Amino acid sequence: MCGIVGYVGSRECTEVLLNSLSKLEYRGYDSAGIAVFENNVIKTQKSKGKIADLIAKMENEGRLEGHCGIGHTRWATHGEPSDINSHPHGNANVTIVHNGIIENYKKIKEFLERKGYVFESQTDTETAAKLLDYFYEGNPIAAIQRVLDEIEGSYALGIMFKDYPDRIYAVRKDSPLIVAVGDNESFIASDVPAVLQYTKKYYLLEQDEIAVLDKNGVEFYDDHGAPIKKELLTADFDMEAAEKGGFAHFMLKEIHEQPTAVRTTITPRISDGMPNLEECGMTYERLKNYNNIFVVACGTAMHAGLVGKYVIEKIARVPVTVDVASEFRYRDPILTDKDLVILVSQSGETADTLEALRLAKRNGADTLSIVNVKGSSIARDSDMVLYTHAGPEISVASTKAYMVQLSVFYLIAFSIAYAHGKISMEECKRLVAELQNVPNVIEEILKTPDSCQYVASQLVNSENLLYIGRGLDYALSMEGSLKLKEISYIHSESYAAGELKHGTISLVTNGMPVIAVATQRNLFDKTVSNVKEVKARGAYVILVTHKCKTVDSDAADCVISLPTIDDLLMPMTAVVPLQLIAYYTSVLRGNDVDKPRNLAKSVTVE
Ligand code: M6R
Repeated sequence: MCGIVGYVGSRECTEVLLNSLSKLEYRGYDSAGIAVFENNVIKTQKSKGKIADLIAKMENEGRLEGHCGIGHTRWATHGEPSDINSHPHGNANVTIVHNGIIENYKKIKEFLERKGYVFESQTDTETAAKLLDYFYEGNPIAAIQRVLDEIEGSYALGIMFKDYPDRIYAVRKDSPLIVAVGDNESFIASDVPAVLQYTKKYYLLEQDEIAVLDKNGVEFYDDHGAPIKKELLTADFDMEAAEKGGFAHFMLKEIHEQPTAVRTTITPRISDGMPNLEECGMTYERLKNYNNIFVVACGTAMHAGLVGKYVIEKIARVPVTVDVASEFRYRDPILTDKDLVILVSQSGETADTLEALRLAKRNGADTLSIVNVKGSSIARDSDMVLYTHAGPEISVASTKAYMVQLSVFYLIAFSIAYAHGKISMEECKRLVAELQNVPNVIEEILKTPDSCQYVASQLVNSENLLYIGRGLDYALSMEGSLKLKEISYIHSESYAAGELKHGTISLVTNGMPVIAVATQRNLFDKTVSNVKEVKARGAYVILVTHKCKTVDSDAADCVISLPTIDDLLMPMTAVVPLQLIAYYTSVLRGNDVDKPRNLAKSVTVE
């Protein structure tokens, strides 16, 4: 989604804005632009395409020179990617950058047109810029407040007023924005990595708070215009964590960071060999009280929830329902104060998941979030939060975040099972020890990526693909399929292996790749029967299973054998080859692995 940056200080502003914007590229975008005060006049430069296209344009037109400015990477929602639709928007008096959607922009636009305003872009953002201009009578905060009263939807705004050439104004609602401070310089950004090369000190801007930045620091005001004090935070990761560190892509680096991420996430939550989630108030006593558990999330995070469902239901025997957040919100779910709703999100800003959280709270359910980004909206709004400690995940394709989400679900499942007396302390400790061993097994798997590289070379020219599995393997297949399609652009479906013959098997033609995941030993023979069905129809079969399993030579064309651990925990290790297959296939197809087309890292619109 869109990225916002802003700078005021003594450095050359264009340089800072471009550097910071480049750190937000991972969010996904299709145009970029900046506005800078040059000799007290607001000047803009913007371009469709990548930041490199904007820089090329600057080389022709000359760089804007100044010490105060705002910048933006746009992920198109209203209006195609084009120079005109790129941000910043506004006029010589007021110029803004915006992340989010102004839902009532049509009404505002009609009103402003009646007042004589002329619009050049198709964006919702331009209406907010012109509305600010309409309300502005010399007092920026008063004008911002008037605008906030009128606009509906989500927004993070960076604003410059002609009369204040050494200041940036910022405000947000339901779209993230941080305000950072260095020595005699201040910044705004959508995300901490954008400013890490300059400072680690930042404030989280809350709903409808207004920030006024100049080179001496920042002042904050509440939505009534009263000054407020805020807590200054320090980023707990550095530039290195947000850089590729010698890997060809962030995705590959993040795949390799998984063992460490799991250790960092689970170690503080294990005491005397038992899971301990009391840090967030989740005692065994509390866990016993829930009649139903709902897991609500989007994309990969939802897939982690599916694994969580299987594991919780299997060992704790508590019913778990998993919903895509955008469906949960509108299906009028039946929730009571005896239910727990678990929200899962890497970014903690996904709009649908955030709204699902609010719905759950309105209905009286307890809410627990599993979130990676500290201080994000979902983390702050939920009753309890269990942070995953994966560090920044930059690649759009989520890998290490999924892995740590799984590890937290295992701890939750073991805790609930023990709390309900479904497993003994001894069994609980055994499972925890197995979980602690998973990072070692992942390290082992990562040492030999050759079979995944080989599979990628077999898939590279395919147009369609199937992933099949049963039980936990089916949940895992969904993640494998999503990973492949989002970065390789090969169409792929995941299917419950036993369901194939009820329709989908008609798609299988000679040479069509089918990736079968068979790590659940009680279901192995059943899945292999399904594999034979597709094989008999010409499929090229890749089977992912335990090393200890013997596979008939006529069952699969290629076998990826994994170290044997408890079947319950196999999703954590079996997902690694699926991630690598997707990665290498994308590389072989020459795609932009970390920034796949049309996608954004943090989906802050509904
Ligand atoms: O930040 P979130 O975890 O809430 O994001 C949810 C999905 O948008 C995300 O997992 C998406 O599916 C990934 N790009 C998939 O790799």
